[in-house]
Order: sequence, then structure tokens, then C-alpha cells
Amino acid sequence: MVSNDSGWHYPFAEVSVPTLDIVTTPDTHPEVQSVIVVIDVLRATTMIAALLDAGANFVWPVRSIEKARHLRIEHPELMIAGERSGLRPEGFDMGNSPAEITSSTVRGRGIVLTTTNGTAALETARHMSETVLTLSLTNLASVEHWLSNTDRDACLMCSGTDGHRSLEDELAAGLLAARMSGWDLTSRAICVREQALQLVERWGGVAGAVAQSPHAARLVELGFDRDVDACSRVSVTDCVPALDSVRGVLFRG
Ligand code: MLT
Repeated sequence: MVSNDSGWHYPFAEVSVPTLDIVTTPDTHPEVQSVIVVIDVLRATTMIAALLDAGANFVWPVRSIEKARHLRIEHPELMIAGERSGLRPEGFDMGNSPAEITSSTVRGRGIVLTTTNGTAALETARHMSETVLTLSLTNLASVEHWLSNTDRDACLMCSGTDGHRSLEDELAAGLLAARMSGWDLTSRAICVREQALQLVERWGGVAGAVAQSPHAARLVELGFDRDVDACSRVSVTDCVPALDSVRGVLFRG
């Protein structure tokens, strides 16, 4: 209790702070889900931000190659992009390479995107919350800013790789958690944050840490070194992709 000069007594107002949770794979149940932030650093969520940055009107994430092909037949103005086993599926306009995006190709276009893990995680998230954003290392500061301004509980959902945890997604999740001062972090969010900070220290920076991931090694083997570099850049765009819950497409938020 506190009292003022007039002698009245009143209780302290209870201050509640938002909670930040992290799930390391999409099939783990979030402790909070007011806002879900999907992460697939290599490469889907980096690709989504790159497409919107280059002037694409929207990105329409879908689960299967067949669905992407079908949408293009129904709407010939759409472009189709994505990967399976890292490579561009036959007949697709683009693969899943953020380093290859140019404004001249995508400006003003709607892009259907299907990837192995990232777009599947987006579908899971869409069933959990009406507010779904995407995070990559490239838009870390902008997502931090977005979350800080809303003060709503949020869960960072790592897409992982084929059901397994992935170093680069947890790195981005942990680095974002490290920036959310004043938020209440769940115990697993604290673990991921500590792990991310240790990785960065051990490998001399974010790019060095990303390079340790098996997914990065696989992309380099496939000749996508430039993508690994592009996906390792931190806070280089103010784009915060947000899912329109009715239409299921991502716009620049
Ligand atoms: C995925 O969704 O699994 C990835 O984005 C795969 C990749 O393009 O490397």
C-alpha cells in the first residue's frame, strides 16, 4: 500500500508484462499464442521478406507443389516459387533463393510459395492465431519493434527441418528473445536465448554461427552460398510480413 499527502491509502496497480514463448518445432504446443511468429531462416522466411521488399504485392504460402501449380492455372497472373530438397520444382518460375530476387521480376506480382518446412509451419500457425508474422535474421529489429509496440503475448515458432530442431531458427528466436527486455520469458525461451548468445560468442558472430548448421552446409553443397550469406545478415530490412487471416496471404506489415 502507498499513501499520498492527503492520507488516502491505495494499493499499487498490478503491472502485467507480456509473455514470450519459443517452440523449437511446429508440433510443440505454445504456452501463449496471441501472436505467432514463424521462423525459417534458411530460407523461407528470409525469402518472404526479400520478395515483399522487392515489391511483390503479396506472398501466398501453400503446402504442396500441386496446390501451387493449381493456383497458377486458376490465376495465370501469379508466379510460383519454392523448393523441394532445396531445388526449384519443375515448371516453377523461381526457387527459394532470396539472393536471386530482383525487383524487375517480382514487382507488382503475387507470388505463391511452397517450401518443405517453412510454409508448412505457416499453415500450422494460421490455425492457432489470427495474428501471424514471419521472422528471419534480416528483419530481427523490425519484428522486435512490432512486438514491443503491441504488448501482446507472443510465441516464436521455429520451423525446424523435417520435424527436427534447427540451429539457425533457434539462433534467430534466441536473439530476438535477448532483445525483449522487460518481457516475461518462459523457461524454454530463456534456454534458447542463452544457447543463441553462446553460439554467437563461440563462432565470432551471427554469420559464423549460421555456418555451423547442417542446413547451411547442405545449401553450400548445392551451390547456394549466396543464400546462406543473404540469410545471415541481421536487421537489414524493415519488412514485417503479416498473414491476412482471411485470405491466407502475407503482406508487408
Ligand atoms: C524449407 O521451408 O524447408 C526451407 O526454406 C528449405 C530451403 O529452401 O532451404
